[in-house]
Amino acid sequence: MNPSILVTGGAGFIGSHTVVALAAAGYQPIIVDDFSNSEASVLAGIEKILGYQVPCYAEDCNQYQLLRKIFREHQIVGVIHFAAYKAVGESMQEPLAYYQNNLGSLITLMDAMLAEGVPNLIFSSSCTVYGNPDHPPVTEETPIKPAASVYGNTKQIGEEIIRDVCAAKPLKAISLRYFNPVGAHPSAEIGELPRGIPNNLVPFITQTAAGLRSELTIFGGDYPTPDGSCIRDYIHVMDLAEAHVSALQFADHQPSTQYYNTFNLGSGNGHSVLELVHLFEKTCKTPLPYRIGPRREGDVVAVWADVQKSSAMLKWNTKRSLEQALEDAWRWQLKLSGNQT
Ligand code: UFG
Repeated sequence: MNPSILVTGGAGFIGSHTVVALAAAGYQPIIVDDFSNSEASVLAGIEKILGYQVPCYAEDCNQYQLLRKIFREHQIVGVIHFAAYKAVGESMQEPLAYYQNNLGSLITLMDAMLAEGVPNLIFSSSCTVYGNPDHPPVTEETPIKPAASVYGNTKQIGEEIIRDVCAAKPLKAISLRYFNPVGAHPSAEIGELPRGIPNNLVPFITQTAAGLRSELTIFGGDYPTPDGSCIRDYIHVMDLAEAHVSALQFADHQPSTQYYNTFNLGSGNGHSVLELVHLFEKTCKTPLPYRIGPRREGDVVAVWADVQKSSAMLKWNTKRSLEQALEDAWRWQLKLSGNQT
C-alpha cells in the first residue's frame, strides 16, 4: 500500500502541484482544505492529471479531533502543512486573524500528530524571514531580520514553534523557505487562481497579456539594482512541489525520532522585474503593456537563494527553466480565458 500523506491546503497553488508530485512519487495524498482561498475545480484538475480522485476533506484543518480521525483512518505517515493565510497587505489589517489561523492551526496540527504518533512534518515557510538582506544570495545561516509584515512574522514564529517542539518531542520536521513560485502544471489542468486583482507579478503579467488588465505597473524603477527594478528568485512551482517529496523522504530517513532543519527553495538565480517582463514577451511571443510606477510599500530590494544546502542534503535540484515557467503560466492563463493554444 502506498504511504499516505496529509496535505493541508492541498487545493491551493503550491499544495495542488505538490499533491500531483506526491502521487507521481508513489504516495497517496489526502487533502484537507476549507476552500476559503481555493476553488473546488482544482480537484477536477488534479483528477485529470492523475486519472483518479484524491480524497479530500472540505474542512478547516484547525480541528484537533478531525485531524486525529484522519490520521487514524488513513494511517498517515507525514503531513505537508500549506494551509495558511498569505496576503501580506491583509495581514497588516487583520493581525489577529493571521496569528490565529496560521499559528493556531500549526499548534493544533502538531498536537494531533504527537497524539497519533505521526512522525514527519513539512512546513511552508518563506524567504520573507530574511527581510531585506545585506548581501544576497541568502543561505540558511543568513541572520533572520525582524519581520516586515504580520504574515512574515507568522512564518518566523511558526518556524520557532516547530523547532522547540522537535527538541522536546518525537517529531521530525523541516521548514521550507520558498522564494517566488511561478508557473503551472504543464498540462494546464492546474495553476494559480488569484482572487480579484492579483498581488503577485506573474499572474498580473499573464492577465495583462491576455487583455484582462490594461497594463502592468512595475513597482519602482529607481532601486539600487542594475535596471532599477527589484530582484527576486523565481522558481517553477513543479520544482518547488518536488522539493516537498525530497524533504519528506529526507525527514523520514532520519534515524533519530527528533529532527529539525530549514532549507531554501529557489532557483539560485536573481531576476529583475524588467527582465521578467522582457523574458515573458520573448518566450510567449506576446506584447506586454507596462509602465514604471511608484515603489510598493514593504518591498525587499533584492533577494535570491543560495541552494547549496538543499541540493547537497535533500538531493534536490531545479529541472525547469524560467522560460518554461512563463510558458506554463501563459498556457494556464489562456486556458482560464477560454483560448486553448
Ligand atoms: N511587482 C510589480 N508589479 C506587480 C506585482 C509585483 O512590479 O503588479 C513586483 C514587486 O514589486 C516585486 C516583484 O514584482 O518586486 C515580485 O512581487 P510578488 O508580489 O510577486 O512577490 P513578493 O516577492 O513581493 O513576495 C511576497 C512575500 C512572500 C510571499 C509572496 C506571496 O514577500 O513572502 O508575496 O504573496 F510569499
